[in-house]
Amino acid sequence: MDKIREYWNERAVDAKGSPTATTNDVFLRQLEGVTLVARLRDHCLRSLCTILDVGCGDGMTTLELARHFPDARFLGIDFSPSMIEAARSNLAVQPDLGARVAFSSGDARDLKGAVGNQKYDAIITNRCLINIPEPEGQFLALKEIADHLSDAGLFLGSENFIGGQIELDRLRNLMNLPKIPIRWHNLYLDETSFLDECKKHFSSATLENFTSSYYYATRVIYSALCKIENSPVDYEHPIHRVAMQLPPFGDSSPIKLIVAVK
Ligand SMILES: C[S@@+](CC[C@H](N)C(=O)[O-])C[C@H]1O[C@@H](n2cnc3c(N)ncnc32)[C@H](O)[C@@H]1O
Repeated sequence: MDKIREYWNERAVDAKGSPTATTNDVFLRQLEGVTLVARLRDHCLRSLCTILDVGCGDGMTTLELARHFPDARFLGIDFSPSMIEAARSNLAVQPDLGARVAFSSGDARDLKGAVGNQKYDAIITNRCLINIPEPEGQFLALKEIADHLSDAGLFLGSENFIGGQIELDRLRNLMNLPKIPIRWHNLYLDETSFLDECKKHFSSATLENFTSSYYYATRVIYSALCKIENSPVDYEHPIHRVAMQLPPFGDSSPIKLIVAVK
């Protein structure tokens, strides 16, 4: 776990405020933001809605959400001190958000240690549970999330799942593309056991394939083009911008949105 924290510390320092601090695929991050805003809409209608961003990284997503929900209060927590430092720097250049947004250190597996008994109307995780290196720790974080939601509170998690990864690799294989390796610091969730675990803590839980078309366009079609042209993958290639706008179809991406209601 320390190695994983070290990895994110180094990334925060190397990125120096760039939007690539938490993923090289900045359009994927934008797609996550747009999707979270849409799903949070109904939950943040009342004033003083409270939202906790667990594994907030450099806080870019937290800050973007704060712009969309002017009556909501946000806390972003992360176990990497350098990410929290980056998040506070990003907040400092948006001083109008200072009264409603805060960042502090905390571990997803011990939310009580991070926020005490505070409950939130919504809790989000973006690619954070997958950084917890054993299933027991991932499930502990899930329970902590449920315990810190108010009644009918909403958990939204953009996380990677193994079934989607297998399907993506199958589609790539049809185009003679190699499998995409899973990074050493990630443990992908299993769709079935994760939803079974959700049943213990939530009244409803579903997975949405919101990045499926995006992945098909960028990791199958665009990758095949790069192979034909013998050119390196460029995450800023316009196909990413176009792919973001496609309606989701199929199950060709590991990244799915957990939508769970307490
Ligand atoms: C892929 S980054 C995503 C950051 C941010 N959510 C975003 O959307 O850009 C994963 C983040 O989770 C944090 N993280 C990983 N494991 C954690 C844990 N157990 N508790 C708190 N944060 C964690 C990492 O430090 C890193 O900043």
